[in-house]
Amino acid sequence: MIEAHHLTKTFKDKKRGLIAAVRDVSFTCRPGQIYGLLGANGAGKTTTLRLLATLLKPTGGSATVAGHDVVAAPELVRTHVGFLAASTALYGRLTAREMITYFGQLNGMDAAAIKARLKVLSAELDMGEFLDRRCEKFSTGMKQKTSIARTLIHDPAVMIFDEPTLGLDVMTARAIVAFVRECRNRGKTVIYSTHIMSEVEKLCDVAGIIHDGRLVAEGTLSELRARYAEADMEEIFVKAVGGEAAIAAALKN
Ligand SMILES: Nc1ncnc2c1ncn2[C@@H]1O[C@H](COP(=O)(O)OP(=O)(O)OP(=O)(O)O)[C@@H](O)[C@H]1O
Ligand SMILES: [Mg+2]
Repeated sequence: MIEAHHLTKTFKDKKRGLIAAVRDVSFTCRPGQIYGLLGANGAGKTTTLRLLATLLKPTGGSATVAGHDVVAAPELVRTHVGFLAASTALYGRLTAREMITYFGQLNGMDAAAIKARLKVLSAELDMGEFLDRRCEKFSTGMKQKTSIARTLIHDPAVMIFDEPTLGLDVMTARAIVAFVRECRNRGKTVIYSTHIMSEVEKLCDVAGIIHDGRLVAEGTLSELRARYAEADMEEIFVKAVGGEAAIAAALKN
């Protein structure tokens, strides 16, 4: 479970001054649900997810993840969270298996547990063909699958995905969407950021629309459709953020 209460993050930037990346954001993600965090470029998705994953400290507000406070108990939060960042690095000289095993060890797993879990992940993500090859020559899709496996090797209760299908081909993206859905079906708490509306329609139980750091709309997909009198997620998104002009203005900042 994830609970965010009035979460706020302000950056001090030499050139741009104070940047309110996340403003007073509150939401709840429940086990067995996928919460979609939707927003345009710069809306505050990654910052929100980094706050939940304890990679950043909030300027204000609070959040608990798997029952632990992100500020008071970041180490405990991290044992229960897998965070797939947009820029998860791989060591080129290691094979995928070595890389994933290494992260299992960092998470305190023993060899037998790592082996068993790796077998499951490799099957679910269809990694058998490249598991024992070095990461340096991987395609974008192979890299992303390896990153997902290394992020989730400890089978955390809470899974945070930051735009996991960015730059992937249709088949690889579908494989990853199917994998995320399977995580939800196994009772995981999943938060998933994206700006691809068709993915939201396929995947998310609840969607939160973030715009200029604020959560401007939230609900199940059917609640959002009813509230905005639109069937199409893209139309709902545009209405929720205040029309095309609001998106253009936010992109200028
Ligand atoms: N470390 C930082 N220092 C200063 N400003 C930052 C920092 N990280 C993010 N920001 C700013 O905070 C705002 C929100 O950025 P964020 O990366 O959370 O957006 P996003 O929704 O993930 O966008 P994208 O879709 O492009 O990934 C932006 O204005 C960004 O420039
Ligand atoms: Mg981002």
